[in-house]
Amino acid sequence: MGNTQKYSVFITRKIPEPGPSILKKYFQVNMNPEANVLDRQVLIKKVKNADAILCMLGDKIDSRVMDAAGPKLRVISCYSVGYDHVDIKEAEKRKIIVTNTPNVLANTTADLTFSLILSAARNIVNADCHVRNGNWKFGWTPDLFLGYDVYGSTLGVIGLGEIGSLLAKRAKGFGMNVLYYSNSRNRKIESELSISYVSLEELLQRSDFVSIHVSLNKSSFHMIDESKIKLMKKTAFLINTSRGKVINEQHLIKALRDKKIAGAGLDVYEDEPISTSNPLIQMQQTVLLPHIGSATYKTRSKMAEVSANNIVNSLIGKGTVYKIR
Ligand code: GLV
Ligand code: GLV
Repeated sequence: MGNTQKYSVFITRKIPEPGPSILKKYFQVNMNPEANVLDRQVLIKKVKNADAILCMLGDKIDSRVMDAAGPKLRVISCYSVGYDHVDIKEAEKRKIIVTNTPNVLANTTADLTFSLILSAARNIVNADCHVRNGNWKFGWTPDLFLGYDVYGSTLGVIGLGEIGSLLAKRAKGFGMNVLYYSNSRNRKIESELSISYVSLEELLQRSDFVSIHVSLNKSSFHMIDESKIKLMKKTAFLINTSRGKVINEQHLIKALRDKKIAGAGLDVYEDEPISTSNPLIQMQQTVLLPHIGSATYKTRSKMAEVSANNIVNSLIGKGTVYKIR
């Protein structure tokens, strides 16, 4: 294999094992020891002379960072399935390989999405606070925290990729009627799961829970805006574990304020972390999570393994590289 220690890898934030060990076996590894997002100026300094960068979705990897790394840079390995934080065109121009971590996080993210559906529908978070804050004074009460049934209701899945399909599968187990809208129709999954393909408009009109599972790109940016939310039922919930920018957040806030829909369960936002002055925080009808779709011990460790192997196999190995496109 020759002297592979000449290659240097920069990891922008501390990732779990076995990621660092896999890389250290072959390369010089420099890992930011902090869990915090790197300041952009620090990032620009630290990537210098890297052959590979293992980055998080909070790191904006654009031409500026690629320039700062210099001409040796051959791999940008995303510790995520989403790659909207990387300027793919710039990378292609420079023949830099961009990789991600598909497959390993879809079930974990589908689980979390389902927990948002259940939590939003059944007031789980508000009810928990009620108990903890000592406000539960009267024992069982006929109208305490009335919510909406999940079983028997209609789920609309926007984007039937890995995560969307696995969510649909879970929903069938809960006795839900499932509709989906996607760029490409998947008749195999349709018949396997007994789900129906409909237009986006029809999905929004008929669903009790609308869940978004598309990647962020030019055509999905603000795909859900006022004109789309307007089509939803007043009793419906909007769920998002994909990327915040797929929804026009200002329009969503207005719709929630005006009670155009019943609520929202969100794991992602237009800007992360969201500002403490974001009106979503003050609303009882929202469940808000800090972008934790893939956050289980097992999955984060698998993501570390895949993102490290993507670098090893791109630079020196022969195994699978999960390339974008
Ligand atoms: C998380 O959002 C990911 O893209 O993996
Ligand atoms: C409602 O459940 C519908 O399928 O239209």
